[in-house]
Amino acid sequence: MKIIVVFNMRGGIGKTTLAVTLAEGLAQFGGAKVLIADADPQRSASHRLCPLATVNECGLPGSGRNISKYLSDAIVKNSLPDPTNYISERCGTIHAHGRVDILMGAHDTLDADRHFAGRCMTDGDKTIFSKLGRAFENLSKNADYDVLIIDSPPGLTTIVQGALGVADLLLVPMAAQSTSELLYGSTQKQIQKHLQATGATVPPSLVVATMYEASNGSFLDRVRVYFKSPLKIKKQKSLAEHELFSSEDGVTVKEKYGPAERELKEVSLAVLSRLGLAAQKPKSPGKSKRGSVNVGKGSRSSASAAARAH
Ligand SMILES: Nc1ncnc2c1ncn2[C@@H]1O[C@H](COP(=O)(O)OP(=O)(O)OP(=O)(O)O)[C@@H](O)[C@H]1O
Ligand SMILES: [Mg+2]
Repeated sequence: MKIIVVFNMRGGIGKTTLAVTLAEGLAQFGGAKVLIADADPQRSASHRLCPLATVNECGLPGSGRNISKYLSDAIVKNSLPDPTNYISERCGTIHAHGRVDILMGAHDTLDADRHFAGRCMTDGDKTIFSKLGRAFENLSKNADYDVLIIDSPPGLTTIVQGALGVADLLLVPMAAQSTSELLYGSTQKQIQKHLQATGATVPPSLVVATMYEASNGSFLDRVRVYFKSPLKIKKQKSLAEHELFSSEDGVTVKEKYGPAERELKEVSLAVLSRLGLAAQKPKSPGKSKRGSVNVGKGSRSSASAAARAH
């Protein structure tokens, strides 16, 4: 399983929108089996992928099918629990080739985070962050996910720091705001400082210009030049919050996101490539190469095989 952390210190710039649409893009265009972990107490990713009743039910203390319960059990009991007791399956509406499951967000994630931060004093920074990292890696156990996408809250929390220590890719949505690049520069330094102090490797990063409008042309040029990334997601109504959830089964990215389909496909394929999963069209059914992911009419097993091969 490859781990992506979608992170930017700044709030409201499209982190969650990128995380959930990428999950669906990877499932549809890469045939991938994707798990989203909603690390934000606002629970935006959970609300975008699941009906309100399901999100609320998972947040109930008796249910415990959520991220704060999972991580707390992993850290407090100091053992790695079976993730299937915490994960909600098939929450995305696309079921073409891959699938999207979710480790639901919870209101008390901030309390759990404060608890973990407090344990840095007793257990030591290195220990608590590596325990959090191992808990994220454990999420694939019994389920064989190709990709785990962690949706971060704004600000660098203890949970996100733990996830960054085991991330294969730091995906950074960046909106065309006056101080975006400057803020990201200082964020990068903080991430580096923390990860080096805990002995973890700094993951490679990929910037995506989000909520991009035609008038932001010079911003897109800077993203291309400074961050070596041509990736963008346009600002468009089909990606606005209220339209994302659909209870219909079998809806495709195109039906759901309309004009955003092409950009989502580009972002999804670029991410697969950065993760070391080469994308190629299947020559004929059952003949796709090991180490590649089908584009379009692919099968889920090929993505799983590719993920395992790396
Ligand atoms: N490409 C887009 N086109 C149109 N609207 C968008 C786009 N991306 C995000 N939005 C809207 O902008 C708002 C903020 O987006 P989102 O929730 O993804 O940001 P965020 O960075 O996750 O916020 P937070 O920091 O609160 O978690 C939402 O209402 C969302 O629907
Ligand atoms: Mg968000």
